[in-house]
Amino acid sequence: MKSTLKHRYISVILFLFFNIIFSQNNLLEKIIPKVSDKKIDSILMLLTLEEKVAMCHAQSKFSTKGVERLGIPEIWMSDGPHGVRAEISWDSWNYAGWTNDSITAFPALTCLAATFNPKLSSQFGVSIGEEALYREKDVLLGPGVNIYRTPLNGRNFEYLGEDPYLASKMVVPYIKGVQKNGVAACVKHFALNNQEHLRNTINVEVSDRALYEIYLPAFKAAVLEGKVWTIMGAYNKFRGTYTTHNPTLYKILKKDWGFDGVVISDWSSAHSTKEAALYGLDIEMGTGTDGLGSNSKNHYDNYFLANPFLELLKSGDISESIINDKVRRILRLRYRTNMNLSRGFGRINNKEHHDVAKKVATEGIVLLKNENNFFPIEDKEGLTIAVIGENATRSMTAGGGSSELKPQFEISPLEGLKQRYKKAKIIHAMGYATGPSVYDNVIPSKFNQDSLRVEALGIAKKADIILYIGGLNKSHLQDCEGDDRQSYKLPYNQEELIDQLKAINPKLGMLLVTGNAVDMPWLSKIDGLLQTWYLGSMAGHAIADVVSGDVNPSGKLPFSFPKKLKDNGAHFYGELSYPGDGTNQYYKEDILVGYRWHDTKEIEPQYAFGFGLSYTNFNLSEIETNKTKYSLHDTINVSCKVTNTGEIKGSEVVQIYIGKEKSKVKRALKELKGFEKVNLDKGDSKIINISIPISSLAFYDESISNWNIEKGTYTVYVGNASNNVTKTITISVK
Ligand code: BGC
Repeated sequence: MKSTLKHRYISVILFLFFNIIFSQNNLLEKIIPKVSDKKIDSILMLLTLEEKVAMCHAQSKFSTKGVERLGIPEIWMSDGPHGVRAEISWDSWNYAGWTNDSITAFPALTCLAATFNPKLSSQFGVSIGEEALYREKDVLLGPGVNIYRTPLNGRNFEYLGEDPYLASKMVVPYIKGVQKNGVAACVKHFALNNQEHLRNTINVEVSDRALYEIYLPAFKAAVLEGKVWTIMGAYNKFRGTYTTHNPTLYKILKKDWGFDGVVISDWSSAHSTKEAALYGLDIEMGTGTDGLGSNSKNHYDNYFLANPFLELLKSGDISESIINDKVRRILRLRYRTNMNLSRGFGRINNKEHHDVAKKVATEGIVLLKNENNFFPIEDKEGLTIAVIGENATRSMTAGGGSSELKPQFEISPLEGLKQRYKKAKIIHAMGYATGPSVYDNVIPSKFNQDSLRVEALGIAKKADIILYIGGLNKSHLQDCEGDDRQSYKLPYNQEELIDQLKAINPKLGMLLVTGNAVDMPWLSKIDGLLQTWYLGSMAGHAIADVVSGDVNPSGKLPFSFPKKLKDNGAHFYGELSYPGDGTNQYYKEDILVGYRWHDTKEIEPQYAFGFGLSYTNFNLSEIETNKTKYSLHDTINVSCKVTNTGEIKGSEVVQIYIGKEKSKVKRALKELKGFEKVNLDKGDSKIINISIPISSLAFYDESISNWNIEKGTYTVYVGNASNNVTKTITISVK
């Protein structure tokens, strides 16, 4: 007996010891060494001009040269924001066919934004950074922070929603988490890459105000607060010049914000040697993909920042100080990453990463509608659930463009539900099929769509309730890089299928698998609706947790769902605004993006930014500000009591918006300035305090080209969605 106890003690002590040694937190404590400029300069002096130039461009699809004779390593990069991409061939976009490069697929960034939980963003960053490190990557090509301007943008699923404050708050911990591993995050795509259609050529015309207030804040937060080590340029033009080497953007980034890291081009977004040299591009990647020319010469030498750059440097057309600045930045990046001797080894596919992936996925799911308490669905004998729809089984980590992943596993919604429901019977039919092809939108003829539908209707008849799992997918012209959706509607005749299912069995709930808003003419026909995004490896388990009620949904929409496309600000102004006339586009809605547009123009959305239901109820009370009169350097402290008045534990997101009715400039009715997620057991209350510096009420004043805080009266709105305000408080600023 005694010896069993002894053993137990010893194993507890060993357990604690190993936990302390190997815990994620401990790994996080590692200090990234501060790199001295002196040290960097001492290396710079040793480099030949040729060696310096070689550092400024690719040597393969995803790497740049080191300097072998000095022991300076190559730099290895990899996509992307949701997991480390499978290895790509040296010279082409083909996968290299390795067998040891499968990883954890984390949820898409839209889902992360929907958690409204910056702590989770940090865990996401730490975990994905560890996976990148294990895969020996120095730069992870993500996260993306381009603002959601139109629901048609094929790449919205990779970004953090429509609000610059939310995107900023979520991106900073992600970056810090990744970089704690000695792996650089690469915030992309700088800037104004808000649509995929015509992305390589379109010229964006936008006011300074919208630029500074809407499209740049998340990048600024990434640089100033996240201290990000690299930034990726974008494909499009801004005011007539390509964004990857644009004088205005370069000045803002490197001069005004003091960015000390490396600007990397998007793959093939550099267009000129002189402009790339002068306007801030440091590393050129992907130009002339699959090789420039077919001769035997090394085609990477033909890059804009390769031989043509060397020639201009040698001729004195470009001063050597220009390349020295680039090389200093590149050496700094190396010291922060692969020349950081305390860098660890990382890990992949471990339980902690799967747990983080699942936590983000479950917390990001948004309950949009729940009539007759359709959700949660209890697991009980005698209940038959018909799971219908292609998205119940389709891989959502395949496709989508550069964020495509090769996960070690991906639990489909159907599999997750089947594993969770032991008493109820689950039956399944696809209903429609779109085939495996990613870059081919044609429905393959080998699937007989009519018989798939007949089968689904037959299955629906046999069930007590239907769970329809549909939406978009990662195919070309859906939620996919390279182009935009061509319609706001659900594709593949799903609207008709939903109608037919409803006619057969009225107990109909839906899981909407998309990274974008869609038209919902079918909304009145369904009882329950969950927005489930693209959830990665643990998709099915996360979905089963929420559907069954094991986890109470707490996600909030990171973008508005307009009732129709024209209700969106970018689309309201027609073709010149979106997608442009083929050459130019004008962001005519200006600062009124997303809910700012809906609120200010009084156009009711289908679902508002910040909206999301719960299986319990919350009450916000005792809402107060610390005072009502503020001066310019003050901080507004908003306190609010949150009470869980329902029957189960859950989380609520308190959101604070501020607006100014009387202003010398156009204003949005209100703008998000603070939020906090609170987790409460049933019956419990908590008082939360949110601080908002008065300086954050400034607008970008074009008349002085600077930020300006207007004096006068402001309204503070406190609620749990942009369209659900519990209390307003008037304050004044002197
Ligand atoms: C994408 C980037 C990506 C790069 C490398 C480009 O097409 O726009 O986001 O990181 O390819 O795959």
